Amino acid sequence: MCKEQRRNGEKMPQIIDGKAISAQIKDEVKEQVAALKEQGKSVCLAVIQVGTDPASSVYVGNKKKACAYVGIESLSYELPEETTQEKLLSLIAELNGKEEVNGILVQLPLPGHIDEDAVIRSIDPKKDVDGFHPQSVGALCIGQPGFVSCTPAGIIQLLKRSGIEIAGKECIVIGRSNIVGKPMALLLLRENGTVTVTHSKTKDLKDVTKRADILVVAIGKPGMITRDYVKEGAVVIDVGIHRNENNKLCGDVDFEDVAPVCSAITPVPGGVGPMTIAMLMYNCLHSVLL
Ligand code: GUN
Repeated sequence: MCKEQRRNGEKMPQIIDGKAISAQIKDEVKEQVAALKEQGKSVCLAVIQVGTDPASSVYVGNKKKACAYVGIESLSYELPEETTQEKLLSLIAELNGKEEVNGILVQLPLPGHIDEDAVIRSIDPKKDVDGFHPQSVGALCIGQPGFVSCTPAGIIQLLKRSGIEIAGKECIVIGRSNIVGKPMALLLLRENGTVTVTHSKTKDLKDVTKRADILVVAIGKPGMITRDYVKEGAVVIDVGIHRNENNKLCGDVDFEDVAPVCSAITPVPGGVGPMTIAMLMYNCLHSVLL
């Protein structure tokens, strides 16, 4: 899982293998789903997509494939782009009421005429496997049990399963989105990290990020983070995923430039990306166990 390499005489870091760690988590979930089946309990996720955004279709397809792999039943609702908010809310109300549905996922982004916050709020918090409902976020904030947003939960697993200690470490998060930056900060705090959240208005960003023992980058700007932002020996987690001018996948971190100065780093692809779906499977399983 951890590779030490040498390139041009420079020491290369531990490459945090999200593909292997996500496969391990999915296999653990699969085993527990099978054990539940033996007790006559099944797990079922309802996946709703509104419109035909190609990236969303790929994500939704991958979520359904992961469900099939771990033995979770998935119900698919593909609604046209012009679906009204009222219609979507009424489908969610119907799924909230169905005992056999354990989790509900509405793929984001939604078309502009639909209020995303209203949709998220309409999902029963007991079925909120994305962890986006204000009740789930509030529970995370005050250290109570509840669903946790999948990408940051996956990052904690990447760190723990790669043997990287969080307690007492200077953890710096770049980005303050509701899906990644904010829950990431709360999770690192829960693990006893010393946490700073930076964003587009942060002054002297490099001076701040250079303090990080663990740097989580979720800014949405391809290749922005070069070694000038990184302390020697830091752990760097790259949440970004983009296509560069050669149509190659890349992250928010300039991997070639940063890798030689850090102690561990996630690649793109094969780092954080696969963890999101693995943690969704974990959350679906726990929707039955909770
Ligand atoms: N769109 C991009 N990421 C996500 C996610 O994690 N969940 C949902 N529902 N939509 C997304």
